[in-house]
Amino acid sequence: MILDIKKLETGYGRLQVLRGIDLSVGKESVGLFGPNGAGKTTIINAVMGIVKPWAGSIEFEGTAIGGKPTHFVARAGIALVPQERELFPGMSVADNLELGAAYVPRGKPIMAQQLEVVLTLFPILKERYKQLVGTMSGGQQRMVAIGRALMANPALLILDEPSLGLQPSIVAEVFDRLSILKKDIAILVTEQNVRESLKAIDRGYVIENGAVVLEDTAAGLANNPHVISAYLGI
Ligand SMILES: Nc1ncnc2c1ncn2[C@@H]1O[C@H](COP(=O)(O)OP(=O)(O)OP(=O)(O)O)[C@@H](O)[C@H]1O
Ligand SMILES: [Mg+2]
Repeated sequence: MILDIKKLETGYGRLQVLRGIDLSVGKESVGLFGPNGAGKTTIINAVMGIVKPWAGSIEFEGTAIGGKPTHFVARAGIALVPQERELFPGMSVADNLELGAAYVPRGKPIMAQQLEVVLTLFPILKERYKQLVGTMSGGQQRMVAIGRALMANPALLILDEPSLGLQPSIVAEVFDRLSILKKDIAILVTEQNVRESLKAIDRGYVIENGAVVLEDTAAGLANNPHVISAYLGI
């Protein structure tokens, strides 16, 4: 397994959010679904070292990373595209992408190669290479954010709500690109747009109230009555 989470419990202050999460990601694309406040971002925060686990374990490629600082996790090979984009709006696409590789040992030596990967994946970023990110559309900025994470050459790419606030055509494009990426890299993605993301993932988990209530293949989830009524709105 690339990522292996066992019996994870954590929260904020005295508020317990996660109540024993078991979740794993192999060489595949895995979705995390669930209502607002279910704990999806908290799972990501625990993996990235933003919140400390209260109990349980988190292993990445066989190394215990639970409770390790964020820079340690990033250097180990996990890159995050956060729910709130953290781009530098006053800097160009080129500079934002370069920063994604700058501080990561596994990214920096192959920066030129990774840049080619990113610009091939998102050709619009090649056209807009010198443009200031703050002047670009929301969809283009999301592509810069994904591209910047990829510049670190991660073994695992985590995306928190990548489709949030984007128009449908861009959402489809982003998920199409994720389906291409998953051939080379493990992906963990949280999404409100369950319908679109089911096309891009291999397996998924449904999180409700800080616990896994369902775990299945994309096809299994698409046909599950609970998923259909609660998340596909049919
Ligand atoms: N920094 C924080 N401090 C205190 N409570 C928090 C913090 N972040 C999240 N919470 C609480 O933890 C719970 C889980 O939040 P979390 O952000 O993990 O949910 P989520 O599944 O990602 O939801 P969403 O779909 O809205 O992004 C919620 O009750 C939320 O209010
Ligand atoms: Mg969230």
